[in-house]
Amino acid sequence: MEIFKHLICAFLDIVALTVLVHAQSQSGFISIDCGFPENSTYTDKKTGIEYTSDVNFTETGVSYNISREYKRNSLEKPFPTVRSFPKGIKNGYTLKPARGNFRLFIRASFMYGDYDGLNKVPRFDLLLGADVWDSVELANASTIVTKEVLHVPRTNYVYVCLLNTGLGTPFISSLELRLLKNSSYKTQSRSMQLYLRWDLGSKSNKPIRYKDDIYDRIWSPYTTSDWETISTSFQVSPDMNFQQPSAVMSTAVIPAVDNKSLTFSWNTSNSTSQHYVYMHFSELQYQINNQTRQMHIYANGKSWYDHQVRFPYLVADFVYSTRPESILEFSINETEESPLPPMVNAIEIYQAKEFPQFLTNQQDGIFLSKQYI
Ligand SMILES: *[C@@H]1O[C@H](CO)[C@@H](O)[C@H](O)[C@H]1NC(C)=O
Ligand SMILES: *[C@@H]1O[C@H](CO)[C@@H](O)[C@H](O)[C@H]1NC(C)=O
Ligand SMILES: *[C@@H]1O[C@H](CO)[C@@H](O)[C@H](O)[C@H]1NC(C)=O
Ligand SMILES: *[C@@H]1O[C@H](CO)[C@@H](O)[C@H](O)[C@H]1NC(C)=O
Ligand SMILES: *[C@@H]1O[C@H](CO)[C@@H](O)[C@H](O)[C@H]1NC(C)=O
Ligand SMILES: *[C@@H]1O[C@H](CO)[C@@H](O)[C@H](O)[C@H]1NC(C)=O
Ligand SMILES: *[C@@H]1O[C@H](CO)[C@@H](O)[C@H](O)[C@H]1NC(C)=O
Ligand SMILES: *[C@@H]1O[C@H](CO)[C@@H](O)[C@H](O)[C@H]1NC(C)=O
Ligand SMILES: *[C@@H]1O[C@H](CO)[C@@H](O)[C@H](O)[C@H]1NC(C)=O
Ligand SMILES: *[C@@H]1O[C@H](CO)[C@@H](O)[C@H](O)[C@H]1NC(C)=O
Repeated sequence: MEIFKHLICAFLDIVALTVLVHAQSQSGFISIDCGFPENSTYTDKKTGIEYTSDVNFTETGVSYNISREYKRNSLEKPFPTVRSFPKGIKNGYTLKPARGNFRLFIRASFMYGDYDGLNKVPRFDLLLGADVWDSVELANASTIVTKEVLHVPRTNYVYVCLLNTGLGTPFISSLELRLLKNSSYKTQSRSMQLYLRWDLGSKSNKPIRYKDDIYDRIWSPYTTSDWETISTSFQVSPDMNFQQPSAVMSTAVIPAVDNKSLTFSWNTSNSTSQHYVYMHFSELQYQINNQTRQMHIYANGKSWYDHQVRFPYLVADFVYSTRPESILEFSINETEESPLPPMVNAIEIYQAKEFPQFLTNQQDGIFLSKQYI
């Protein structure tokens, strides 16, 4: 480890580094409040998540408060401070997750908040290893952008970097790493980027995350006027692998009025993008005479899931893409025998993502760092 760090540092005249963060409590969570000036940790009262300052771990960057006009009480604790990287093209954090057969879920969040008083929103790239993960584009100073990737690392390290692309100084508000069982979200791709994660028919209209979700996924409330919400006050048991939170699964949407189908479509900036889709279901209304709700799912007009989907009562079930697909539209239709309209409780869509150059070993790490010099 030390060797790794030193070898990389040899190339760091302009590639400023690096942060090594050890796993902390909350079963393998790493939660960093970037730019938090005090050498300490704290618990965000709103989320219950324990954040740690990055002060011990970074040798570069400058800590800033966002400007007063963007501070508001509803803002989660990591956002009022940022770490900004005026020097160097590439600056980053090396995360060292707990060892084990895990899938990692890495989330980086950004809110500009005019921290530098320039009132000019920067644009820069976010890297995972040496590969571009995504570009960070913020509509305005109060926009919060969150990038999430689900990833199976080849090494014990995860290197998250900000790349200055000449469009302003990169900065970061928070960096979070979570561990999931490797048996969840099995995919052909080693990595996938979150496109959307909807809690359908939410009653609170608030995002759901830790502690409702033991993996701290963030489920955003979503509904449309074409749908009606149904809910239960009972707990919904999760699937062992996916651990869907009961708070998400206990609400669902059905078509409004007497529509016999639910349709979803979404805009994608790249129509050739390949997606992985996960739909989560649970029956919320007790059916006498075992009259189970049944439905068929069509993607882009073709049958997506060959079987009829049946709903277990108060138990979470799911269907998902076994390979990446280019899907722009779903239609969930009731079957002829179904006594009840189609229903869905939650949906997640990820974009398949390859990080071909992701550090495979120390040698590669050094080689890849060189590319930016
Ligand atoms: C920084 O490291 C010191 C020594 O290991 C430790 O006492 C302190 O709690 C750490 N601070 C943070 C914010 O992690
Ligand atoms: C943080 O505090 C610990 C002791 O409480 C100290 O060992 C460490 O050097 C401090 N780190 C920084 C960056 O000030
Ligand atoms: C940020 O604000 C806190 C008080 O709210 C202050 O103590 C700290 O010095 C400020 N940091 C910077 C970098 O201005
Ligand atoms: C998950 O980890 C176990 C070891 O704990 C391993 O045997 C298994 O192959 C892994 N499964 C996947 C899908 O990677
Ligand atoms: C900032 O952008 C968001 C969209 O990301 C928009 O909803 C909001 O109204 C904008 N705020 C201002 C002050 O322009
Ligand atoms: C019924 O579904 C269609 C297709 O999704 C939609 O265009 C229409 O608005 C829906 N009607 C009602 C009353 O929700
Ligand atoms: C998709 O894009 C169109 C046109 O840009 C916009 O009107 C619509 O609201 C978008 N839909 C969603 C779900 O973002
Ligand atoms: C669209 O996605 C494909 C596959 O992910 C990629 O090869 C292509 O470069 C992308 N196009 C644009 C314009 O981003
Ligand atoms: C309902 O299902 C249970 C268990 O599968 C079965 O024992 C029972 O006979 C069924 N009832 C009806 C009315 O089909
Ligand atoms: C499913 O529902 C959609 C939307 O109402 C409709 O366009 C489509 O024809 C239906 N598919 C089948 C096979 O019934």
